[in-house]
Amino acid sequence: MNTSKQPAWLDNAIFYEIYPQSFKDTNGDGIGDFNGITEKLDYIKELGCNAIWLNPCFDSPFGDAGYDVSDYLLAAPRYGTNEDLKRLFGEAHKRGMHILLDLVPGHTSVEHKWFRESMKAEKNEYTDRYVWTDSIWEEPQGMGCIRGISDRDGSCAVNFFSHQPALNYGFYKPDPDKKWQQSMDSEGPKATLEAMKDVMRFWLSLGCDGFRVDMAGSLVKHDEDGKGTIALWQNVRGFLDREFPEAAMVSEWGEPDKSLRGGFHMDFLLHFGPSHYNDLFRCAEPFFSSRGKGDVSKFVKKYVENYEKSEKKGLICIPSGNHDMDRLSRGVRGDNLKIAFAFLLSMPGAPFIYYGDEIGMRYVENLTSVEGGYGRTGSRSPMQWDDTANAGFSAAPAEKLYIKQDDSPDRPTVKAQISDENSLYSEIKRLISVRQSHSALQSKGEIEFLYAEKNAYPLAYLRSAGDEKILVIINPAARETNFDCKYLLKEKIYSFGEGVSVNGERITVPPCYAGFFLV
Ligand code: NOJ
Ligand code: CA
Repeated sequence: MNTSKQPAWLDNAIFYEIYPQSFKDTNGDGIGDFNGITEKLDYIKELGCNAIWLNPCFDSPFGDAGYDVSDYLLAAPRYGTNEDLKRLFGEAHKRGMHILLDLVPGHTSVEHKWFRESMKAEKNEYTDRYVWTDSIWEEPQGMGCIRGISDRDGSCAVNFFSHQPALNYGFYKPDPDKKWQQSMDSEGPKATLEAMKDVMRFWLSLGCDGFRVDMAGSLVKHDEDGKGTIALWQNVRGFLDREFPEAAMVSEWGEPDKSLRGGFHMDFLLHFGPSHYNDLFRCAEPFFSSRGKGDVSKFVKKYVENYEKSEKKGLICIPSGNHDMDRLSRGVRGDNLKIAFAFLLSMPGAPFIYYGDEIGMRYVENLTSVEGGYGRTGSRSPMQWDDTANAGFSAAPAEKLYIKQDDSPDRPTVKAQISDENSLYSEIKRLISVRQSHSALQSKGEIEFLYAEKNAYPLAYLRSAGDEKILVIINPAARETNFDCKYLLKEKIYSFGEGVSVNGERITVPPCYAGFFLV
């Protein structure tokens, strides 16, 4: 692992994920834009977030909401110009904030110039940019493919949807009988990686502060244990250390033991993969439900395993949600949203808040898919700012909005929640300010789980940095619970709910409660 050059600003970074389509529209076309984000920077800062992850905002036919890039170096005109984006970086920096762009290195749109060139029968600079077989009659094993649309005789592997051709970074162990499987160090794969470094160089030079990397673990093919892909990212790390040591990198990988070894500073826990993240908020009996029938123990076991492997650097990031998952509020209700945030904002690593989760925005049910969203579309509806038309998102007629909004009369809005000190928004703001005034609670403070038993409540852990030790108690269940703890509770620094009682080493915790104590 290489975190020696970790940018200092990550120590207390709290990220806010923005899906640009749905955040704030300033020109009345029904779709969010860069100027809208710039306009709302103060809102994000006021909440307490000091960093942003912006979903892909590059030119694209939007078959997968921008994860199908057709020009890596051009901002999608619907969001504004490269200059507008540069201005957004500048305005963020003025406020002490940082912005990560979304880098999609695994695949492009079929409309990308590289792909159009690679479809040609004559050999050219881009012939080996994607994973092609030698014959239309041979399909790449274990991957979907695009076939029959090019003069080139071959089938091209895809990475995700069938309109997203896979860029060629080589095979970990090419099959000698399949000449089209190139090794990682052959010319084509090397050129692809250099081209991707150019993309990074371009945006970092324009002022972005790093990248969230899409499907970071998928680049090298037939790479079961990820060894080839880890080596590839170590190569990128070398480049960044030399040219952009302040750039921050977070991977969509979901296996921190691999990604951090590859030189990423942070990795997400995701709704797929081995992390048991879904046990918390998104399963039949989530741990954060007042029914109190959840099980946090497998999540904790896996977390500890990863944490030990990442040398306790604590850069495992637990998001409140993202544009690919159901909204947090679909599985976690009422006060438990506050308790879920008490957990999210007291864990190591950098927390990520998905836009709208801070007001408990709801998953909009029964929508027809928009731009390849399918079931994800309901989690991508436009932000609800206030009680004016379209909840203040856009001046366009409602039917022109990018995605239909939650139209229930009691839909949450920023305006209502800011002025209510009992709102979810106000609770999150308090939690962030407590986190930011105690280094033990921040990214690199250590964690030790004190109570995380099978099918049991509460969850208790100790966070520490230097001399500061903070006990965190989380009880989403609507019943009193207890656990044994050898630490003496000295001072309460935060609680949602009241009435923890201590009898010798036994701590009794009230229903639906979260508390942080100096010990
Ligand atoms: C993960 C992204 O988060 C998702 O939205 C996208 O569809 C796939 N990767 C493909 O790029
Ligand atoms: Ca707009």
